[in-house]
Amino acid sequence: MDSILVTGGAELRGEIPIAGAKNACLTLMPATLLTDDPLTLTNAPRLSDIRTMTVLLQSLGAEVSALQDGRVLAMSSHDLNSDRADYDIVRKMRASILVLGPLLARHGHAVVSLPGGCAIGARPVDLHLKGLEALGAQLELKDGYVHASAPGGLRGGVVEFPFVSVGATENVLMAATLTKGTSVLKNAAREPEIVDLARCLRAMGAQIEGEGTDTIEVQGVDALHGATHPVVTDRIELGTYMLAPAITGGEVECLGGKLELVAAFAERLDAAGIHVEETSRGLKVARKNGRVSAVDVETAPFPGFPTDLQAQMMALLCTAQGTSVLEEKIFENRFMHAPELMRMGAEIDVHGGTATVTGVERLKGAPVMATDLRASVSLILAGLAAEGETLVNRVYHLDRGYERVEEKLSACGARIERVQGQ
Ligand code: EPZ
Repeated sequence: MDSILVTGGAELRGEIPIAGAKNACLTLMPATLLTDDPLTLTNAPRLSDIRTMTVLLQSLGAEVSALQDGRVLAMSSHDLNSDRADYDIVRKMRASILVLGPLLARHGHAVVSLPGGCAIGARPVDLHLKGLEALGAQLELKDGYVHASAPGGLRGGVVEFPFVSVGATENVLMAATLTKGTSVLKNAAREPEIVDLARCLRAMGAQIEGEGTDTIEVQGVDALHGATHPVVTDRIELGTYMLAPAITGGEVECLGGKLELVAAFAERLDAAGIHVEETSRGLKVARKNGRVSAVDVETAPFPGFPTDLQAQMMALLCTAQGTSVLEEKIFENRFMHAPELMRMGAEIDVHGGTATVTGVERLKGAPVMATDLRASVSLILAGLAAEGETLVNRVYHLDRGYERVEEKLSACGARIERVQGQ
């Protein structure tokens, strides 16, 4: 298992290109199952999760070719020969459940393994299942698999989500595009990845209105055709790299960044004393003056503060002046980075979904353990400004969501290298 070795202390200066969004690509790829025609995605990120989704789609008989060094994904599900998504693939990546809606809508049946939980929580998929049942799907749970069928096809209906779910919105939205009649998704997720999916589906001939709001209306069509679609910029990678100069001092321009993707996050950075400026090429970030100020953070569905940036923001607040309170409202166990940051000298008190961070002058480098994707990168951010060396172990978590992190950061002056595992 590889590790990442960071030697803290360097101020960062330079540019970081932001890639296409992992969480957009992971829902855009299953959309290929909705048509026989080729679907091509450009600006795709080169990540292990994308490779996992590729293997899953290929296991169903779809063709997926990674072209131009993985930046372009050329896909076709013309010759599907299976409707079964096996546990050994699904357990590696929960987003695999997103093949359920498209398979059901296009082929009238699907057998998809339940994903099981992960480090940050139980992460059930009940909203996905209830949403598809509201469109007429018949579902049966057997030996850890969802056996879904829609004899005579799905029919339009109203899907009322009891609370916001990104994945359930995506699954139901994709299914609704080929569902006879009108489907209305209420209390739908509003994330930019949902808007990006709707734009792609519309380019494929779907009739969708309201994406980006909490009510999405879909008129089903008989068939969708192919398209070529650019994956939207990754707002979580963007926010992550905006924090690098915030933590180290210096100034970094995140190329491709747009303020609208990270408005709530940027507002908290501004309150903490970090200057964010929109340029013609992206977002330029620098500290306004000396030490960062403590701020409170509460995660919420978009357009609120993203849960996927909570761990990274905590790394900044560990050395802020004053005490910060972070409320994690989306997942039940998303503070596993806290004990690792405390190994570096951070003062953090965790009670349930609340973490209270009392800023210290400076963290001290230490060997730490990555537990999940966003926790791993928060430890790297903390190591950038810590005194001495920080060795982050189990960086396979990191490679799921960040391409070439050591290259992007060392290009701005960070002292960071990948240490090959034993
Ligand atoms: C997506 O996960 C993202 N993953 C997550 O990013 C992100 O943290 C999350 O949305 C919230 O923004 C992808 O897009 C691949 P949810 P998803 O359904 O769809 C509960 C990362 O680091 N829930 O919005 O699984 C759930 O347990 C990952 O890139 C149910 O109870 O998130 C959670 O507490 C981590 N039943 C809350 O709702 C359901 O059927 C929000 O989950 C579905 C969800």
